Amino acid sequence: MNLDRVSEIIDSYEADPACSLAILQEIQQEANYLPKEALELVAQRLNLPRGHVYALATFYRTFNLKPMGKHRIKVCLGTACHVHGGPVILEAFERQLGIKAGESTRDGNFSLEACSCLGACAQAPFVQVDNDPHNQMTPVRVPEVIQLYAAGGNGKGA
Ligand code: FES
Repeated sequence: MNLDRVSEIIDSYEADPACSLAILQEIQQEANYLPKEALELVAQRLNLPRGHVYALATFYRTFNLKPMGKHRIKVCLGTACHVHGGPVILEAFERQLGIKAGESTRDGNFSLEACSCLGACAQAPFVQVDNDPHNQMTPVRVPEVIQLYAAGGNGKGA
């Protein structure tokens, strides 16, 4: 992400340290993650210790310090999903994508995350890709779900 753009975002909040969370959110929205250089600039321009800005960026789960894939696959490992085979679903995604939870594929198409309860316990084991629900997942359906989003697809079969 261009650091001039980061500066513009900071300026739009008048470099107010009270707005640091909103500034980080806007940077992430545009860059898809929080680049290290952007965090450094935020600390410098807001006159905050670097450690404070990094603490904010790591405390809130909404922030990512690594580039995320175009599609975010969230596999729920909350209690209900765990009991109904969530770990097996996660393993199937890991095997199929060749990455571990917390990583992104080299082509930048997918990120894989293990999550706590996503609020759809009745649909366990539950998986969410971007904003799309995939209910009562089975390992057999994992390649099919990946295919829906691969090669520029949007998960709607397009
Ligand atoms: S435990 Fe998975 S959605 Fe609630």
